[in-house]
Amino acid sequence: MDLGLNGKVVLVAAASKGLGRAIAEEFAREKAKIAMCSREEGAISAAAQEIERKTGNPDLLPIAADVSTKEGCESFVQLAQSTFGAIDILIVNAGGPPPGRFDDLDDTAWHKAVDLTLFSAVRLTRLVLPQMRKQGSGSIVYSTSTSVRQPTQYLNLILSNAIRASVHGMLKTLSSDLAKDGIRVNAVQPGRIATDRLIQLDTDTARRQGTSPDEVRKRYESSVIPMGRYGKPEEYAAAVVFIASPKASYITGVSLQVDGGMLMSMF
Ligand SMILES: NC(=O)c1ccc[n+]([C@@H]2O[C@H](COP(=O)([O-])OP(=O)(O)OC[C@H]3O[C@@H](n4cnc5c(N)ncnc54)[C@H](OP(=O)(O)O)[C@@H]3O)[C@@H](O)[C@H]2O)c1
Repeated sequence: MDLGLNGKVVLVAAASKGLGRAIAEEFAREKAKIAMCSREEGAISAAAQEIERKTGNPDLLPIAADVSTKEGCESFVQLAQSTFGAIDILIVNAGGPPPGRFDDLDDTAWHKAVDLTLFSAVRLTRLVLPQMRKQGSGSIVYSTSTSVRQPTQYLNLILSNAIRASVHGMLKTLSSDLAKDGIRVNAVQPGRIATDRLIQLDTDTARRQGTSPDEVRKRYESSVIPMGRYGKPEEYAAAVVFIASPKASYITGVSLQVDGGMLMSMF
């Protein structure tokens, strides 16, 4: 299937490794022009070089930017736009807030998590809208988490559970509001996709429960995920790239879980 992404300008936030990197690579395979950011200049440049080597796509622009700050969001979007001229697709992604239960976390931790998870989405969206409105088209995808549908499985992730839900409230409102401008707004929710972040979370759970990260993973795979395994970053990326692409032209306001069947709710 031709997804219609050849030459489209895509911004992928938080893309030096893990989900963001896999998403950038899938867009590169589709011959899009990609601006990708993360905080570490060396890491994001190395990721861009590796993607170019693997896909043969030379249109990759690595940018060092921290999306938890206003300046970081601005420099990411401005550099991308001044280099490529248009903005067709925005993928909002960021590092995950630290694990912790309610009693572990003070106001500073909550404020930081709001900056990282909610304000990155607010600011990046605000920054791309003028260009998308001018073009009369655009597609925004928030990469969030299945925890917005079923937070109870993640008792030690209260920051993520609480703040990502507000991103979904924003998405549902925006998708209705922006449809008239030709802009689609959707979310994709990873369940348990094998990345460094998952190793960090499994290690934290293991420490709290007095077991090993391997045991934590085995428990998920044997009794929580019907498909019996963690997902691969490229499996997640394929869903994001499709929903962001012109082929998904009649899809807006939805939130798609990519979780091997883990969520048990009907909707
Ligand atoms: N993997 C899963 O199954 C899963 C499930 C649910 C939710 N999530 C969420 O999805 C997001 C990505 O997860 P992941 O598994 O891909 O994590 P990861 O493997 O740890 O990768 C995180 C990426 O984000 C970048 N990053 C972190 N903070 C940033 C910031 N403030 N500004 C710009 N870039 C930043 C990192 O690069 P630098 O260090 O260079 O900045 C890195 O490229 C996280 O929010 C995570 O909580 C993941």
